[in-house]
Amino acid sequence: MMKLEAILAVLCTIGAGLGAAVTPQQATNSIPKVEILEAKNFRDLGAKRARITYGPYVVPGSEDATTHGMKTFQELPALMPCRECLITSYAPDLVFADGKPANANREMWLHHIGLSNMNRTDTACASRNWPERISVNGNERSSFDMTVKGTQKAGYYVRKNDTIFLATDAMNIDEKPQTVYLAIDYEYIEGTPDGFDIVFPVWLDFKGNCLNESTGAWQGEAFEAKSKTSFTAPWSANLILMVPHTHDGNTKQEVFLNGTSICQNVPGYGETAEFVSHVNEHGHDHDHGSSEHVLHVSSISQCSDVIKTNPRDRFTISSTYSMKEHPAMKDHDGSLEPIMGIEFLHFARPRDEAIKDILAMPEPNLQSFLDQVAENNAKPH
Ligand SMILES: *[C@@H]1O[C@H](CO)[C@@H](O)[C@H](O)[C@H]1NC(C)=O
Ligand SMILES: *[C@@H]1O[C@H](CO)[C@@H](O)[C@H](O)[C@H]1NC(C)=O
Ligand SMILES: *[C@@H]1O[C@H](CO)[C@@H](O)[C@H](O)[C@H]1NC(C)=O
Ligand SMILES: *[C@@H]1O[C@H](CO)[C@@H](O)[C@H](O)[C@H]1NC(C)=O
Repeated sequence: MMKLEAILAVLCTIGAGLGAAVTPQQATNSIPKVEILEAKNFRDLGAKRARITYGPYVVPGSEDATTHGMKTFQELPALMPCRECLITSYAPDLVFADGKPANANREMWLHHIGLSNMNRTDTACASRNWPERISVNGNERSSFDMTVKGTQKAGYYVRKNDTIFLATDAMNIDEKPQTVYLAIDYEYIEGTPDGFDIVFPVWLDFKGNCLNESTGAWQGEAFEAKSKTSFTAPWSANLILMVPHTHDGNTKQEVFLNGTSICQNVPGYGETAEFVSHVNEHGHDHDHGSSEHVLHVSSISQCSDVIKTNPRDRFTISSTYSMKEHPAMKDHDGSLEPIMGIEFLHFARPRDEAIKDILAMPEPNLQSFLDQVAENNAKPH
């Protein structure tokens, strides 16, 4: 059996897709702070809203020889706003102690956040019984609103004893260490009320359902990365929300049902000053391109038209990249950052059958997941 820290490090690496060497890390001594806010949707049904601020996370400076300013912080188990409840939405932000955004214009990036449930089986890679990958988010700081602005009664079911794992990769470009916090605004409803569906998040990836069909390497200057096989859900459901995650250089992402496009996501670049960085401000800056101002992904559109799906429906994905249109990010050593093309499909299922399936899930097989990560890390990317 691997040590817990090693397992966490590996989970972070895959969650983040960094592909870096797997190095055991210490869990952080975060002291989460909880603030109660006013719910935006379903207040009449008892919905609540809370901001949980995890941290402090001290991110080493870019000159640090070991980390080059990139560090993963882990919450295991992550403090959740509720137990035996439905989380109906969540939205993250990386902030400084004064609550102001920690972003590219202040030399700080929310490189990735990964959420997993260690007590549920992953739907996309169910054949290998992986722990459930709930979502990955990046500096775009997408919100995951399963109510779709109060139009859908649906949420993610957190059981009393579920262990939720939250990993935050923060990247500091400043030479000095910087202290940041991860703030997540959660909206939730106690219990599993009548009329609310339960959401199964599905990780659709051009690398395949079990991340074993291709790598995140750039495939040229401009190309379309496509899934080779498809995802097929074992049940009927309402597909209510699709949230993408891509990297700089992405121009479009598309999801297909039986080969027909059902969702197009378009990233926005540098829409506000926080998402604009400056080349060569520091001797050791990442090389983001040749222009003085570099615009980074600042948002990416989502899809929320309700689609009724059936067990034989085939879902595939393509993610289009062009470094001619938008510069690619580079790692500290000058190599290109791997690309990502992920879409989180949110399938809402009737409560009773969903809970029956959840209770019948075997303990996930962490080792199978770790083996795939080790294999991916051994490949060039
Ligand atoms: C959930 O998973 C954690 C981590 O593997 C484990 O310690 C815990 O016992 C599990 N809880 C339940 C209810 O199975
Ligand atoms: C949760 O874990 C506690 C302590 O391990 C156990 O007594 C309890 O039965 C568990 N509850 C559920 C709902 O699994
Ligand atoms: C990827 O993993 C799946 C599930 O284990 C397997 O069926 C498939 O053959 C694998 N694909 C490749 C290219 O190895
Ligand atoms: C997709 O294809 C499958 C298998 O051919 C079929 O059963 C299903 O009805 C199709 N779905 C749609 C939405 O056309």
